[in-house]
Amino acid sequence: MKLVIAPGDITATAADAVVNAANSRLLGGGGVDGAIHRRGGPEILAECRRLRETTLKDGLPAGQAVATTAGRLPARWVIHTVGPTWAKTIDKSDTLASCYRESLRVARELGAETVAFPAISAGVYGWPMDDAARIAVETSDAMADEVGHTVREVIFVPYGEKAEQAFRTALAVVRP
Ligand code: APR
Repeated sequence: MKLVIAPGDITATAADAVVNAANSRLLGGGGVDGAIHRRGGPEILAECRRLRETTLKDGLPAGQAVATTAGRLPARWVIHTVGPTWAKTIDKSDTLASCYRESLRVARELGAETVAFPAISAGVYGWPMDDAARIAVETSDAMADEVGHTVREVIFVPYGEKAEQAFRTALAVVRP
């Protein structure tokens, strides 16, 4: 399974699946969430609403992932996942790692061959970018055996110079 870095706007990434940094309500928001719903159009929100009325009545817990249509995006699916909010005194690293693990498992179930990730939790949710990138890359690399027969490429889509540097540094450690 290849790990690549493609800086830019994830809503323009033509991967089979793009991952949304959502919140538990699953009904939109700012950042990546806002961009995906804005550019993807109302079909995404309609499916999210159906999920909230059926299988996710209490919303999507942090660390879990669920797929919907990608609407008008150049992708086939959006995989919504909810990152943990950063807290100095509580180590939620495993919940952030779970976002990548569970999103990759959903991607495998869908048959998605390429999956694009934003820097989950590293925006509004305040996670330090370097650590967010480390967890993203390490966790994805560790999933290669489990999902690599279907997911042949994971694309990290950092937004901005600092994020890109953080992902390049993290990738160089995991895949020297
Ligand atoms: N493409 C790629 N990356 C983006 C884009 C974009 N179009 N827009 C923002 N980002 C980057 C941010 O710069 C940050 O590095 O994605 C990373 C995640 O930031 P957020 O979108 O704020 O996500 P998160 O920190 O997980 O917070 C989630 O924010 O937007 C709300 O509804 C969302 O409540 C949820 C919370």
